[in-house]
Amino acid sequence: MAKTKTSFFCQNCGAESPKWVGKCASCNEWNTYVEEVVQKTPKSATPFSSSTTQRASKPHRLNEIEKLEERRMMLQDNELNRVLGGGIVPGSLVLFGGEPGIGKSTLLLQVAVRETNKKILYISGEESEQQISMRADRIGKSNENCFVLTETSMQNIFIQVEAVQPDILIIDSIQTLQSNNLESSPGSVSQIKECTAEFLRYAKESGTPVFLIGHITKEGALAGPKVLEHMVDAVLVFEGDRNHVYRLVRSVKNRFGSTNELGIYEMNGNGLREVENPSEILITNNEERLSGISIASTIEGVRPILIEVQALVSTAAYGTPQRSSTGFDLRRLNMLLAVLEKRCGFKLGAKDVFLNIAGGIKANDPAIDLAVVCAIMSSNANIPIDAGICLAAELSLSGEIRAVNRMDQRITEAEKMGFEQIIISKFNKGINQKDYAIKIHQVSKIEDAIRIIFG
Ligand code: TYD
Ligand code: MG
Repeated sequence: MAKTKTSFFCQNCGAESPKWVGKCASCNEWNTYVEEVVQKTPKSATPFSSSTTQRASKPHRLNEIEKLEERRMMLQDNELNRVLGGGIVPGSLVLFGGEPGIGKSTLLLQVAVRETNKKILYISGEESEQQISMRADRIGKSNENCFVLTETSMQNIFIQVEAVQPDILIIDSIQTLQSNNLESSPGSVSQIKECTAEFLRYAKESGTPVFLIGHITKEGALAGPKVLEHMVDAVLVFEGDRNHVYRLVRSVKNRFGSTNELGIYEMNGNGLREVENPSEILITNNEERLSGISIASTIEGVRPILIEVQALVSTAAYGTPQRSSTGFDLRRLNMLLAVLEKRCGFKLGAKDVFLNIAGGIKANDPAIDLAVVCAIMSSNANIPIDAGICLAAELSLSGEIRAVNRMDQRITEAEKMGFEQIIISKFNKGINQKDYAIKIHQVSKIEDAIRIIFG
């Protein structure tokens, strides 16, 4: 019998080492190395494992290669199409990550049952056929071309894939599958790598798009390792607060489209509903204006979205004031507070500051800075900001209001949503008041913006 060969893998980044080490040299994490069996048994190789596919490829002239864009497959889900960069590219491998219970299985089952004119194979290693069928009933659609398989062995999966010949393959989830080529347990780094590599080969050779669901660790990284992200063509991450109904699909890597594209869904009793006009849901339409609320015109991917920033400033009950932020970078909040203190003379050093972006959204757009600062000042002074004012500008360390990109889209969105005034940077060139009905204030310093808002 062949001697069992083992190796040690970092469970965080997937780095390999012949012996155990305490600290991973590639990701600097401590105590992440786990011993895994890596002995391959080539006899039972799957149809798409490297040992059987020795197909030699030939070079082609660049201009003779068929263009991918012409063959994109549009799904019956506009949000997903947009996040993927305009439909799914045949033969692409898409990794779909997210915390447990966020709705990954629901979304992909929804994709499966909506594609009535395509053959879909939905393979689950997590749930029974009955559970999947009950979920499909909840979603309320049925598709006779959707096949469900509950299986965890890669070898059996590929036998069925060969038999069904699906147009789209969905795997829920990569962490539950096991290849006989390796002896390590499902979910280990070497298994995840091996299974993904087999799906990658299958996708590229058959031209079938493959969706892989992957779990996210409690630290927020895709479980099983960064290596997975390198192998696949696109990584979509499902975000959102489980206590909110809104779910965001963000693209963090996409070989066939732009990243930072955002898809928004609402989780209902009967599945995930696409949200076509996100600005409407993210702003609370209170007749009576409260202090500490401001509206920012941001851009997520290609779409302008208006989001509500909420701040609460109160006197610190204990010696050290608290700074807490949900949906906004805490370091950036601290920086903006320092700018307010130093440049505008606001004494916030002894105050607790809480910041929240409504709807469980995570805002990365720098244009939200001005709205954050104004919400904080509004709460501090207990003066509400006029409900007709929208803000879009970045703040520099010197307190200068800086220009942000795609200003016309931001202004148009604010106008569309019925805002009467928008405050932007003076340094945004090419903005002409007579092109818009909304009143545009162009300011260069934070004091000017304060004067407009609070009089
Ligand atoms: P699920 O897709 O199982 O999450 P994941 O695969 O990411 O672990 O989603 C589970 C949650 O979604 C569950 O808490 C119930 C909720 N849900 C709805 O609110 N409405 C629905 O129609 C469905 C199918 C699920
Ligand atoms: Mg699931």
